[in-house]
Amino acid sequence: MTTGGNERAPEREYLCVEAFLATPAEARALRAAIELGVIDLLARSAPCDLATLQAAWRGDYRGLELLLSLLAVNGVIERRDGGAVLTEAFARALRFRDLIEAKLHFADALAGDLADRFTLLLADPDGFQRDSRLFELFRYDLACQRSPENLAATRRWVALTTALTRYEGPVCLSRYDFSRHRRVLDVGGNSGEFAATICRRHARVEGVVFDLPVVCDIGRDHVEGLGLSGRVSFLPGDALADPWPGGFDLVIFKSMLHDWPDSHARALLARARQALAPGGTLLIFERSPIAIGPGAVPYSLLPMLLLFRSFRGPGWYVDTCADLGFAPATAVRVELETPFFLLTASR
Ligand SMILES: C[S@@+](CC[C@H](N)C(=O)[O-])C[C@H]1O[C@@H](n2cnc3c(N)ncnc32)[C@H](O)[C@@H]1O
Repeated sequence: MTTGGNERAPEREYLCVEAFLATPAEARALRAAIELGVIDLLARSAPCDLATLQAAWRGDYRGLELLLSLLAVNGVIERRDGGAVLTEAFARALRFRDLIEAKLHFADALAGDLADRFTLLLADPDGFQRDSRLFELFRYDLACQRSPENLAATRRWVALTTALTRYEGPVCLSRYDFSRHRRVLDVGGNSGEFAATICRRHARVEGVVFDLPVVCDIGRDHVEGLGLSGRVSFLPGDALADPWPGGFDLVIFKSMLHDWPDSHARALLARARQALAPGGTLLIFERSPIAIGPGAVPYSLLPMLLLFRSFRGPGWYVDTCADLGFAPATAVRVELETPFFLLTASR
């Protein structure tokens, strides 16, 4: 595997948010500051004196002081004469506010798994799967049947995957030239965010997203909001059981195959090969196993830590593609907040 250039290029600038999401109490304080309007206030008035902060504050002085102390220790603000100002570093990170909010919600939603079920995760993976916030959040079974309840449950996690893809997608585009493709199938393509990113950049690409029915319903609205309904269409179904359309010159799996055990992932890759026109390309953009150390695991990585059994290195994919008759695959390592790889192989 070769290593791509991993300097902080513009498409990787979003990684600066991680500095403010490293420790639970400080990250939780940041979420509170966003929810309570303190971050907006500080973004509007720099610096903000204590009287202005107190006037806008709903609680008691001790609550405000604790919040400001946690924000200061986290590098979000600097204290100035009792008041506060956003640090330059946090003001830059605030350009990625949607991602900060998504990562905070994601980690907070799973905090109970760390507190109450981490022993189970380590020693009894099946027990964890039966009784964890993680698998309660990602209820793919609820995305199969349309109902108002299933729509609400599915929206919760699609918002998170969409926010991550909004930033991971452009990194993939910076490492792979999509311009030569015309008909692209994104399997497990979720809200269509990645397909839309490709279509926005490359005027001649048309994308098809193959995903579960409720996810597709959410995706259609999302893509319409982006003004790309004419170029990104949705195919609702079960990619393991339902027939696939064919004749694509690119089939993508982005952060999809890790959800499946080897036998299912292999079956999906075999189906992808059938869906490709001769000479077409398979593209996998996936997380590798998360690297522990030398520092502590940041709070923002809690979801990926809980998923640690899911991520395979690129070697398994390279070997499986060879077994399935693809031309030799190439995999490039991409360092994001965890290591990813970008694999391509042609039929
Ligand atoms: C971890 S998410 C990744 C989504 C997106 N590709 C991304 O990078 O954010 C996995 C996606 O696979 C979809 N999925 C799960 N089971 C599926 C199935 N049997 N057929 C098609 N899509 C499926 C999920 O609905 C979800 O959108």
